[in-house]
Amino acid sequence: MDNLETISQEISRCQKCVLAEKRTNAVPGDGNSNAEIMFIGEGPGEQEDLQGKPFVGQAGKFLEEMLETIGLKRKDVFITNLVKCRPPSNRDPFPDEIEVCVKNYLERQIKLIKPRLIITLGRHAMERFIPGRKISQIHGQPKRLVNHETGEKQIYLPLYHPAAALYHGSLRETLIRDFKKIPKILEKVNQLK
Ligand code: URA
Repeated sequence: MDNLETISQEISRCQKCVLAEKRTNAVPGDGNSNAEIMFIGEGPGEQEDLQGKPFVGQAGKFLEEMLETIGLKRKDVFITNLVKCRPPSNRDPFPDEIEVCVKNYLERQIKLIKPRLIITLGRHAMERFIPGRKISQIHGQPKRLVNHETGEKQIYLPLYHPAAALYHGSLRETLIRDFKKIPKILEKVNQLK
């Protein structure tokens, strides 16, 4: 039987793409294994690479602050990324890196955790699950789609990335506003099944 610990161990030894060469630590993800909400970012940055944990830098601090505004802590949710190793100089992960990492690890994490709501952070994570759309047009709107890998219906909520909101002040209020919708969206999702 697959489990999150096995997946984390595989990730820490993973050599399936070039991102393995320069990492200090792989960053499998952490939080509640029964989480109703799973956050998926893009990939580890410098601090995450050093500490082996997702969202522990500036963007992570902001994410935690926003979680608190809706009465949640990191331990209540599961936080991970599309790719589990830091892309050098924080470049965007390449499509083949995303593909191999999602297929081998993220999809298994999703299957085990079975979140009610997957919240994508930023356009890369959005594009993987809700392809061909613009984040500026669909942020903050829940989408019910079949996950092609698992074959199951899944609700996604695309949000701007907290780092983008830190760099572009105009997005900050939008992200905070979208975040505040999460409890109502989750309530509705829980009424669906
Ligand atoms: N940005 C991400 O997308 N993920 C992290 O873990 C940290 C910053």
